[in-house]
Amino acid sequence: MAEEVKSPARYTITAALPYTNGPIHIGHLAGVYVPADIYARYQRLIGKDVAFVCGSDEHGVAISMKAKKEGVTPKDVIDKYHAIIKKSFVDFGITFDNYSRTSAQIHHKTASEFFIKLYEQGDFIEETTAQLYDEEAEQFLADRFVVGTCPKCGHEEAYGDQCENCGSTLNATDLINPKSTITGAVPTLKETKHWFLPLDRYEDFLKKWILEGHKKDWKPNVYGQCKSWIDGGLEPRAVTRDLDWGIPVPVKDGEGKVLYVWFDAPIGYISSTKEWAKREGKDWEPYWKDKDTKLLHFIGKDNIVFHCIIFPSILKAHGDYILPENVPANEFLNLEGNKLSTSKNWAVWLHEYLEEFPDMQDVLRYTLTANAPETKDNDFTWKDFQARNNNELVAIFGNFINRVVVLTHKYYNGQVPAAGNLLQVDKETLAELTKYPGIISSSIERYRFREASQELMNLARLGNKYLADEEPWKVIKENEERVKTIMFVALQIATGLAVLSEPFLPFTSSKLKQILRLGEEGSDGANSQQIAATLNNESRKDLLKWSDVSNEETLLSPGHQIGEAELLYRKIEDKEIQAQLDKLEATKKANTSTALSTGTTNKELMPQKDTITFDEFTKLDIRVGTIIEAEKMAKAKKLLVLKVDTGLDTRTIVSGIAESFIPEEIIGKKVTVLVNLAPRALRGVESEGMILMTENSEGKLVFVNPDEDGVGNGLTIN
Ligand code: 2FM
Ligand code: ZN
Repeated sequence: MAEEVKSPARYTITAALPYTNGPIHIGHLAGVYVPADIYARYQRLIGKDVAFVCGSDEHGVAISMKAKKEGVTPKDVIDKYHAIIKKSFVDFGITFDNYSRTSAQIHHKTASEFFIKLYEQGDFIEETTAQLYDEEAEQFLADRFVVGTCPKCGHEEAYGDQCENCGSTLNATDLINPKSTITGAVPTLKETKHWFLPLDRYEDFLKKWILEGHKKDWKPNVYGQCKSWIDGGLEPRAVTRDLDWGIPVPVKDGEGKVLYVWFDAPIGYISSTKEWAKREGKDWEPYWKDKDTKLLHFIGKDNIVFHCIIFPSILKAHGDYILPENVPANEFLNLEGNKLSTSKNWAVWLHEYLEEFPDMQDVLRYTLTANAPETKDNDFTWKDFQARNNNELVAIFGNFINRVVVLTHKYYNGQVPAAGNLLQVDKETLAELTKYPGIISSSIERYRFREASQELMNLARLGNKYLADEEPWKVIKENEERVKTIMFVALQIATGLAVLSEPFLPFTSSKLKQILRLGEEGSDGANSQQIAATLNNESRKDLLKWSDVSNEETLLSPGHQIGEAELLYRKIEDKEIQAQLDKLEATKKANTSTALSTGTTNKELMPQKDTITFDEFTKLDIRVGTIIEAEKMAKAKKLLVLKVDTGLDTRTIVSGIAESFIPEEIIGKKVTVLVNLAPRALRGVESEGMILMTENSEGKLVFVNPDEDGVGNGLTIN
């Protein structure tokens, strides 16, 4: 019999507050909301007291920028996206106990009180320092209002507070070649006063708590990032900003300034819990202050530093709060090989998915879980989505259930038969079934949701195989008694699936409980919207519990009447997938033509170099040539050795284009060549000139030829 993991009774589960500068897409779902919901549902199912909280993150530069771009107020932006996001979460069946918003009064009050307490305790450093300033916009530049080169990794589009490439937290003044994202201006420096959280004071605490305390139980990616920040030495971080959108700094000299969004947003988890507790007539404090409560933050990897270093330091400074037990951050999900991007519309938007695939929430949940980016970045492809549905949900899970229900009706008018003599195979199959709650629990408790989802599918496989081996449809002809036993066993597995699938496939589970008449309160014939409402209804009572699947010898008693057969899933046709791929292709085209018409690509333009004289220009001898031979240079990833016919001669040119072209594809290609560049030896091969190259809108190197696809005006030729 499976051991239930011993764990505390109260769970506070948080899911990253999404910015309300756009709708939710599959990257958010796979990284944060689906795993968090699986975990919360599971803990509730095994009887734990759960507060699963979230809300909209409505402050910060991301919102102000979106408002500027759309020519509306930040309030318009947050109201619009808060409504879209909140609705899509409900329709998708994410069972937050509370979904709040950081513009709510309760949050402003909670965050302000937090700040005041730390201020009064002397936990901040007050300092006047020179900060980046945009003279044209008459505004200080912080966070996403400024981009520049990351001093740690060289990424050219790092933000003023964070580099999304290497994950470093930055101060805006650390950026190399900073540039205002409002006007494009190069910022000047201007003095201003701010409040800093001296993270260096928390180094010892963080070392002990994370490096000594959580080496074994935190995911290696999370632990590793924390270790490298702590080992690299922590510095004071400004927790206030010179902006007009946010929570006003509630202390003397704070006029015209607001709290840094990453100071207030995590406190949003607390405000959301307070809002929930008030509504439910509960006390919020044990959920944040009782040391027996298990606090968990579900986030994406770009949020690790804020949840593992900065927010815990704030909680520690405050003094009354518990710290997270774990922060199971995920890596990123890509879409069809490219990074998901809200601004480039490279995404599968949840609200659109729900319209285009009505009543198919579980298919997306399952695909995102089975392919979750738990230990490395992963790719979502529509083909995989189709395969997961057609080959697993339809062919295994759905097929098994359908056979069981149809045969039970055919042979016994829908009444569960009594088992006769159990053969070895029946006993073994029933014994296997009892192991699954323990197996799946163990994966979930270790945040291995993809593994857990595969174990659930293995249970459906067990059922399918059992029926295929025992062949009741054949045996019925000669041994009716034996078929009763087979169908009894199969019905127990179907019941096990109904219970154990709830965290992963909640709509399926609900439908299956209806079909098996497992006592879930009425949603007979309900559509998925109604089921979503039922799922969110705490008063719902299930007759069977998770552990019953391990403990009860009979989950579905003989004589029990089941309901009519109903298909759980439908096949997804090629044309539906093609329509999605066409949609993405159209997005790609739109992005390329925007880049071309504006002369920009996804790469920022280089500033113009110093002026040269006409005489200097005439020194450059640029000719048309043809590549007549090309081969890879041994042990050099980037270099190709080319033979180029320049009209003057045939010469060797070593070119750093090996990552963009294979030799065969460029033989015969006409190119632009700088022929009088002084020869130089590259890895022992003398190069006698340079092929002029640029990058297209997808960052791929292309030969200089203004007709090339995606080559925009203003690109540097080099
Ligand atoms: O990265 C983001 O989308 C942030 N809005 C997450 C905030 S999480 C929490 F701290 F509020
Ligand atoms: Zn970086």
